[in-house]
Amino acid sequence: MSVADPPEVERLSARLRSGTRAEHDAAQGSGFLDALAAGRLPREAYADLAAQHWFIYRDLEQAALAQRTDPVAGDFVRPELHREPALAADLAFLVGQDWQSRVVALPATRAYTARLREVAFDRAPAFVAHHYTRYLGDLSGGQFLGPAIAKSFGLNGDGHRFFVFDGIRPAAFRSGYRDRLDAIVWTPGDEQEFLTEVSEAYRHNIAVLADLKERWT
Ligand code: HEM
Repeated sequence: MSVADPPEVERLSARLRSGTRAEHDAAQGSGFLDALAAGRLPREAYADLAAQHWFIYRDLEQAALAQRTDPVAGDFVRPELHREPALAADLAFLVGQDWQSRVVALPATRAYTARLREVAFDRAPAFVAHHYTRYLGDLSGGQFLGPAIAKSFGLNGDGHRFFVFDGIRPAAFRSGYRDRLDAIVWTPGDEQEFLTEVSEAYRHNIAVLADLKERWT
């Protein structure tokens, strides 16, 4: 570190990570994802997770379209991140060609997507908060979870495209993402809105996992 560098503890990305550790541990410890990865749940439970993801990413990625010209949020909008096409392909494989008429959003998923529609389309701090919570998670723990789930259900390509980000190297992406977060010049109010909304995003993810657990265990 040179004298000009701010101490790590002051960086937004570092404060964010330590400030949300408890929420992350709650999301990770919900039990549903571990049970899926360990092969203790039926394939239908995994298809249900993909369905809930589809509802969530559909709205998150529509918000990305609305935010792509925003000077702050637009920098986070990358088409190669978008999961909706991969989830649609996974669902066609797991559920069948008529998947769209068969998937049902659980109550917690409906609450999550309502929140996305309420804040993520026109508030850059809220959009970045939801973007961070999903995509950085997918490119962190998701990179371990994906192969474990594929192994449990005997999937080889089809059915777990959600976890595979073509054209993205996860470690380099995560570090570039943190740099982009740290480079944002926000008012204190916007930064607080961002931090609060990350907690809100975790809360919604934990609730979706709880609904899935209740349904399948
Ligand atoms: C079995 C479930 C999970 C496992 C094993 C897991 C594991 C991990 C690991 C190993 C990291 C990297 C931490 C580091 O870089 O030191 C991480 C980061 C992250 N995870 Fe998870 N995770 C899980 C579930 C979730 C869920 C459900 C969410 C929320 C949707 C989530 C969101 C995140 C985020 C946003 C980060 C980035 C933290 C940061 O560095 O700022 N994770 N996870």
